[in-house]
Amino acid sequence: MSSQGTPRKRVTINDLRRMKAAGEKIAAVTAYDATAARLVDEAGVDVVLVGDSVGMVVQGHDSTLPVSLEQMIYHSAAVRRGLSRSGGRAHLVGDMPFGSYQASADEAVKNAARLVAEGGVEAVKLEGGAEFADVIGRVVRAGIPVMGHIGLTPQSVHKMGGYVVQGKDNEKAQRLIRDAQALQAAGCYSLVLECIPAELGRFITGKVEIPTIGIGAGPHCDGQVLVLHDLLGFDTGVRPKFVKRFGELGEATGASVRSYVDEVKRGTFPADEHSFHSPNLRLLQVVEPAGDESEDHPGVIGAPV
Ligand code: KIV
Repeated sequence: MSSQGTPRKRVTINDLRRMKAAGEKIAAVTAYDATAARLVDEAGVDVVLVGDSVGMVVQGHDSTLPVSLEQMIYHSAAVRRGLSRSGGRAHLVGDMPFGSYQASADEAVKNAARLVAEGGVEAVKLEGGAEFADVIGRVVRAGIPVMGHIGLTPQSVHKMGGYVVQGKDNEKAQRLIRDAQALQAAGCYSLVLECIPAELGRFITGKVEIPTIGIGAGPHCDGQVLVLHDLLGFDTGVRPKFVKRFGELGEATGASVRSYVDEVKRGTFPADEHSFHSPNLRLLQVVEPAGDESEDHPGVIGAPV
């Protein structure tokens, strides 16, 4: 179906830092399977995130909380295979799912290492502020780059009281600024800023040396990330303000499948060009021998010879 692409130089964490320094925006997007990974890599994204948003847009849950480490490894490995098909330029990050890093730094290191070794990611992302600095430090010291994630952190949806914009007053904004600095000091190589005022996104981006990747955090972040299904226009039920639909693949999918159903019903699919032929085939009438077997194969069957 598709071939192995010529290997291309991979985007590294150093490239991302250089991009920030040069003012070159970073384009990131989620992917959960091999086909999507190949397509987004060929389209030129710098970072592919195997997000735990897989729980909502692929698995149909109403939060990211049920996603397991095994599932993240499964999807990450599929995405890694897809990237290999396209030459694998994009930097691959995998989300640490809920419950895989909160209990202890030891657990976090062990689980992050599995995502890297079995899932093939180059870095892990985990949600949380200064309270996770120790955990992040341990994972980084184990040799695994960590992308931080502050602002709206979907794994804390119940603590936040819903999917609500964060950092809207001075005190909360100050806390997020301190979180960003603490995560940088802990060794994060980049930082996702989710659903915060654009003014705060701009301030944090100017305050830290590591690249910020925004989602609902305004235009001044060093890069942007979107959930692939959202940007493609697959209606997944939720339509946050920060999503721009760059395609209408939900409608296109519906229209394509309606045409398929219609052609199957009318008998116009498959046409001759979709059928196999074997001109040398002779179909023999097979007369079943009398006996018990004839009950299993009654009448005449066609047998290729
Ligand atoms: O899980 C995810 O897709 C994410 C992005 C939205 C940043 O964390």
